[in-house]
Amino acid sequence: CGIVGYIGHRDSQPILIEGLKKLEYRGYDSAGIAVHTSEGLKVSKAKGRLAILEEQLEGAALNGTIGIGHTRWATHGKPSDVNSHPHQDMSGDFTIVHNGIIENYVTLKEELAAKGHTFTSETDTEVIAHLLADEYDGDLVQAVQRAVKRMKGAYALAALTKHEPDKIVTVRYASPLIIGVGEGENFIASDIPAILEHTRDVYILNDGDMAVLTSNGVELMDVEGKAISREIYKVEWDIVTAEKAGYDHFMLKEIYEQPKAYRDTMGSRISADHKQIVLEEVQMTKEQIQDIHNIHIVACGTAYHAGLVGKTVIESLARIPVETDVASEYRYRNPIITPNTLVIVVSQSGETADTLAALREAKRCGARVLAITNVVGSSVAREADDVIVTWAGPEIAVASTKAYTSQLIAFYLLGLYLAQTLETQEAGAIADVIQALEKLPEQVEAILAEAEVVRDYAERISKHEHLFFIGRGLDFNVAQEGSLKLKEISYIHSEAYAAGELKHGTLALIEEGTPVIALATQEMLFEKTVSNIKEVAARGASVMGLAIEGDDELKKSVDELFTIPKTLPLLTPALSVVPLQLLSYYASLARGNDVDKPRNLAKSVTVE
Ligand code: G6P
Repeated sequence: CGIVGYIGHRDSQPILIEGLKKLEYRGYDSAGIAVHTSEGLKVSKAKGRLAILEEQLEGAALNGTIGIGHTRWATHGKPSDVNSHPHQDMSGDFTIVHNGIIENYVTLKEELAAKGHTFTSETDTEVIAHLLADEYDGDLVQAVQRAVKRMKGAYALAALTKHEPDKIVTVRYASPLIIGVGEGENFIASDIPAILEHTRDVYILNDGDMAVLTSNGVELMDVEGKAISREIYKVEWDIVTAEKAGYDHFMLKEIYEQPKAYRDTMGSRISADHKQIVLEEVQMTKEQIQDIHNIHIVACGTAYHAGLVGKTVIESLARIPVETDVASEYRYRNPIITPNTLVIVVSQSGETADTLAALREAKRCGARVLAITNVVGSSVAREADDVIVTWAGPEIAVASTKAYTSQLIAFYLLGLYLAQTLETQEAGAIADVIQALEKLPEQVEAILAEAEVVRDYAERISKHEHLFFIGRGLDFNVAQEGSLKLKEISYIHSEAYAAGELKHGTLALIEEGTPVIALATQEMLFEKTVSNIKEVAARGASVMGLAIEGDDELKKSVDELFTIPKTLPLLTPALSVVPLQLLSYYASLARGNDVDKPRNLAKSVTVE
C-alpha cells in the first residue's frame, strides 16, 4: 500500500491522485484522500481501483492546498469503503493515513472504548485516529509522540487535524516513508516515484523519525521531540524510467530491459582486463571471508528462487556450504547461525517484512549480513553490513523479471569474488566465467528476438488449467521460477518438479495432452533429462523442450523445441528463464488478465 501527502500553494487533489497512481505497483484494493477544504477537513475514499475514487471526486472535488492520500492493501479488515483510509476519530477532527500493522490495536481499542469511543471500521488504523483525539491537548506533534508510545508494531503515518490546518505530521517505524522537499511546497510518500514529478530532493526517514511539514519547511525530529538532521538525497533517475516507454505492459518492458540490467549490474564490477571481480561495496576483509564457515541465503518469492540458484553458484565457485531458506520460515526454525555464518538476504524492494525480520534475527545471532537489493536506501540496504545493489532500475510489474535476473548476476559476481579471494578457482577459470558473463546481455537480446515462437506456444497452453515444468539441477531452480511466474499472472496452475522425482508420484497426473515444459540445458544431466521427457511423452504429455542451441536431437522427443545460445552450464539460468517469462506474459495476455497487476498480489509485501 502507499501513502502520499502534499502541503503548499497548489490544489492538492490532483497531486495526491497522480502520486497514488505512481504507487499503484505496490498493489492495493482501495484508495482515498483527505483535504483541508474551506468547509473543513474532508475525506473521500472507496474500495477498488483509483478510477472509482476519481469518479467519486468528479462533481465532489476536495479543494484545498493541504492533503493526504492512501492506497490500501487489506490486512486487518476486508477491502471495503469503510475500511479504506484515510481514517478519522469520532469528531472527524483527526484524520490519518497509515501503512503497517498495529499489533496491540485490540487492547488499545478496548481502552478507548471504555472511554466512550465508538469505531466504524474493522481496521487497526482507525484506532490511531482515536488515539490522537485522546492524546490531543492543543499540539498535534506532541499528540503523535504520545500516541506512538502507546502503539506496538509497524507504521508509516501521516496525520492532519482541523485544529492546526497548516501542517502535516508524519512518523515512521518499520514501514517506508520519504519526504520530498520543494519550494513553497513539500511532499510525503512511501516511495520516490510518487513525488518525482515535483522534486528530486528527498529525505529518507529512519525508524523513529518524525517530520512536521508546512508549506515553507520540513522539521525533522525524533519521537521525543529532539531535532535531528538527515542528509538530502538527490534522486538521479528519471520518471520516464518508471513509465512504460511504449510497451503494452510494464512487465514486457521490464523483460526487454534485461540486457541493460545485466550490463548495469556487472558495470564497473568487472576489472578493465576482464579477469577479476571488483566488489568495493563488500567491506569484508580477506580474513573475514576466510572465516566464513557457511552461508544462509534468505528471501521471499522470486528473490528466494534467485537464492536457490545462488546456492549452486557459490558452492560451485567458492566451495562454501550454502543453505537457501524462505524468510518466513527461517526465523522460526531456530537456524544454526554463528558469527562464522554469512547471511545473504535478497530483496528487490528491500522492504519485505519477512526478509527484514530474518535479517534482524541473523544480526541478533551475531552473523554478518550481506544484502542483494534493487533499492538504494531501502530498509534492508540500510540495516545490512554489506550491500550489493542490483542496478535493474525501478521494477513496476508485480511479477518480477529483471530484478530476478539481476539478482542472478549479483550471485555470479559474488561467487566469483569469493572464489578469487579464497583462491578456490584458477585465475584462468575465473576469467573464463567472466568472459561468458559478459556475453549474456547480447545472448538475451537474441532470445528476445525469437519471442514470437514462445507466443504461439503460450496461446496454446493458455487453454489449459494445469501443467508441469521439469528439470534437473539449475534447470529445476529455473523451472520453479517459471512455474511461479505462470501462476502469478496467468492463473494457470502449474508445478515445478525435479525431473528425476516425477516417477515417484507426479507422473500419475500426466494425461493425454497435459502440457509439460522440460528444461534440458545442463550438459551433464542432458541424457537423464531426456529419459524423463520420454516418460511423460509416453503418457500423452505435450512437451515443450528448452535446450541449448545445437542440441537438436531433443527435437525427436518433444512437440516443440526452443533453444537458447550456448553458455557455461552455471550461467544458463540467466538465459533459460527469459523464454519462461515471455511464456507467462503471453499466456496471461491470451487469457485477458491484468498482466501488471495480478489479482490478490502486491509488489512489495510489508506485512509478515
Ligand atoms: C512479493 C512480490 C514478489 C516478490 C516478493 C519478494 O510477494 O509479489 O514478486 O518476489 O514479494 O519481494 P522482494 O522485494 O523482497 O524481492
